[in-house]
Amino acid sequence: MKSFSWLFFALPAAAQYPVLNDSAWAGPAMQRDSKSTSTPANFTSASGTLIVPSLSIPERPKEVADQYSVSFWVGMEGVPENNAPFARGLWQAGIQGNIYVNGTKTYIPWYEWIPEDPVRLPASDLVMNEGDHIYINVSTADLGYTGTIVLTNLNTTQEWTITRPSPVTPRGPTWHAPGWSAEWIAEAATYGPETMYRKYILADFGNATFLDPKVCRTDNVCLGPEGQNTTIWDLVDDKLYSRTSVGKDVTIEYLEVDL
Ligand SMILES: *[C@@H]1O[C@H](CO)[C@@H](O)[C@H](O)[C@H]1NC(C)=O
Ligand SMILES: *[C@@H]1O[C@H](CO)[C@@H](O)[C@H](O)[C@H]1NC(C)=O
Ligand SMILES: *[C@@H]1O[C@H](CO)[C@@H](O)[C@H](O)[C@H]1NC(C)=O
Ligand SMILES: *[C@@H]1O[C@H](CO)[C@@H](O)[C@H](O)[C@H]1NC(C)=O
Ligand SMILES: *[C@@H]1O[C@H](CO)[C@@H](O)[C@H](O)[C@H]1NC(C)=O
Ligand SMILES: *[C@@H]1O[C@H](CO)[C@@H](O)[C@H](O)[C@H]1NC(C)=O
Ligand SMILES: *[C@@H]1O[C@H](CO)[C@@H](O)[C@H](O)[C@H]1NC(C)=O
Repeated sequence: MKSFSWLFFALPAAAQYPVLNDSAWAGPAMQRDSKSTSTPANFTSASGTLIVPSLSIPERPKEVADQYSVSFWVGMEGVPENNAPFARGLWQAGIQGNIYVNGTKTYIPWYEWIPEDPVRLPASDLVMNEGDHIYINVSTADLGYTGTIVLTNLNTTQEWTITRPSPVTPRGPTWHAPGWSAEWIAEAATYGPETMYRKYILADFGNATFLDPKVCRTDNVCLGPEGQNTTIWDLVDDKLYSRTSVGKDVTIEYLEVDL
């Protein structure tokens, strides 16, 4: 994970949702409504269908690199809240897209339950290409102590799934995901020990669209982020790198706007 900068960012056109600056994340997060101040939102699943974006080499990257990367994911529990009375673990799944200076592009599915490291899936488990529609469903049971991921390439019908318990020590207590938040994110990510947790330089991803973003709760009500208690992050580093719009679908547009 990464640290949040809880800074409000006034968009020129009055934003429908609060927009926060972040150095790693772009996209919306849903949180509980104000009726309940001390309990989770009781989200038990989050889903969306990612249209695998077409990557290109950024015109004006933060740094010139051999490889540019971006990660897209759906998750639960990504947004810390001060009054959450226990450690919570972000349960997430999606894809990592890479473009190399020679033009080669790769799209690698992965999942992760923070504080563990990400697990990348081999091509034998799931293959995807630009323009494919990838259904991502992240869910929990047992009050967040068990998690299930379903990743389906709707174009090939290839499906991959896992069910597992939440992470435990040695790196902390039990990091379950009882459902305080759900999010649909494009991330300038760090990818784990093999790269010394280096942050990759962001690839130009054009538009990243999550079709039909949705959460379901313990009371079986399912909702999208539109018109709900939704916050947007946009990626601000040396430049403004994204603009997120939330409607029936979520679109995160890649930008390179000077600050
Ligand atoms: C967030 O980033 C925008 C875009 O650069 C900038 O205009 C704004 O001042 C930033 N907000 C804060 C609170 O730093
Ligand atoms: C939205 O969620 C945040 C974080 O849980 C909470 O502080 C705020 O009161 C909520 N706002 C509304 C309008 O429900
Ligand atoms: C979540 O479930 C608990 C236990 O049933 C309940 O007390 C609480 O009000 C629910 N929270 C919301 C936001 O519905
Ligand atoms: C492009 O570069 C990557 C990373 O070095 C390498 O894995 C890949 O094979 C190269 N592609 C071609 C077509 O040479
Ligand atoms: C995948 O399927 C969707 C829905 O039918 C279609 O719009 C899209 O063009 C397909 N993608 C590719 C790469 O064929
Ligand atoms: C992304 O979507 C916006 C809004 O629909 C559009 O104006 C823009 O041209 C799109 N960008 C790309 C790279 O497709
Ligand atoms: C996720 O998948 C489960 C099992 O199929 C389903 O019951 C649930 O409604 C899905 N959640 C969302 C948010 O689509």
